[in-house]
Amino acid sequence: MTALLDGFNRAHTYLRISVTDRCNLRCAYCMPAEGIVYREKKELLTFEEIERVAAIMVRLGVTKIRLTGGEPMVRRGIENLVKKLSRLDGLKTLAMTTNATLLSEQAGILKENGIKALNISLDTLKKERFLQVTRRDQFDQVWSGIQSALSQNFDELKLNVVVMAGFNDDEILPFVDFAFQNRINVRFIEFMPFKDNEWKIDKVVTYKEMIETIEKQYKLSALSADQSAVGKDFALFDGNGKKGLGTVSFITSMSDSFCSTCNRLRLTADGSVKSCLFYPAEVNLRDRMRAGAEDAEVEEMIRYSLSLKPEAHAPAEELSQSENRTMIEIGG
Ligand code: GTP
Ligand code: 5AD
Ligand code: SF4
Repeated sequence: MTALLDGFNRAHTYLRISVTDRCNLRCAYCMPAEGIVYREKKELLTFEEIERVAAIMVRLGVTKIRLTGGEPMVRRGIENLVKKLSRLDGLKTLAMTTNATLLSEQAGILKENGIKALNISLDTLKKERFLQVTRRDQFDQVWSGIQSALSQNFDELKLNVVVMAGFNDDEILPFVDFAFQNRINVRFIEFMPFKDNEWKIDKVVTYKEMIETIEKQYKLSALSADQSAVGKDFALFDGNGKKGLGTVSFITSMSDSFCSTCNRLRLTADGSVKSCLFYPAEVNLRDRMRAGAEDAEVEEMIRYSLSLKPEAHAPAEELSQSENRTMIEIGG
């Protein structure tokens, strides 16, 4: 087996699988106001097809798989896919990113079936703001989903907060308080441009600005992280030197990108391999698999997709004009 190397010698060990392009929320920074045209069911990979691609990738060196969407839990029977993937020999971590709307009943089931790491998206602690950004009145469901996740003791539990100037940048400290009081990693994410997501450069709050705000009340102490992690991680101490239960991180794609250590590949819900979040080129595996392609051909196509991967993403202003898919279709 030769590792999944791209043209810049980066080894790919982390696969993000989008299991659906549907979502039960309508976050403005993720999808256009008018919605997207959902794929028909037959256009989506079946669970068997997803398992097949995942098994090939794990054979080629992938050790971590994250399930994304849309919202992965709106795909019926998702726990069955989780169970199957968790049994792949060689896979070390099976993870999921969710909006937590369906988590209060499902957290235990996901854990039982093999999810080890869970990332939850929540951009505000205020009910009215939640409605404003997601266009759905589901804050209470999400909050109880988060409580269920906290009680399940996942190996890793993270909360993703996309920070947007003038919208939720006044909630950085309340989110840090939450991290201080709970065993969770709160990650502040610089707002990134995607097709039709109302991005403007002046809505980006850089991680340096966020750190300045946090240091008014807390002391941050840098933690070492995995070389290809997307976050810069910090332990928290309050004014009395007491250490917080949780930690905070910053995902700095806009002000300090991390492409040189990228280890990620993506499989879209409709069966394309996408080698870079911001790069439009995709290689569709679905049609060739349905036409009877052998594993060797699928592997060849995955490697071809990797050969198209750019060294780094373009500058922010350029990205906002690019022909990439919407975030909801990519899955983050
Ligand atoms: P971990 O496995 O916990 O590191 O999760 P993750 O950060 O990869 O996944 P998650 O789905 O929680 O995404 C958090 C943020 O990171 C989102 O804003 C993603 O869009 C962003 N992100 C994920 N992968 C990449 C990537 O390859 N490049 C960039 N620039 N951003 C990414
Ligand atoms: N910029 C940064 N992060 C984003 N996400 C969705 N859209 C954006 C964006 N424009 C995050 C979600 C979710 C993760 C998969 O991607 O909050 O946590
Ligand atoms: Fe990897 Fe592309 Fe993200 Fe850069 S922008 S870290 S190359 S996926």
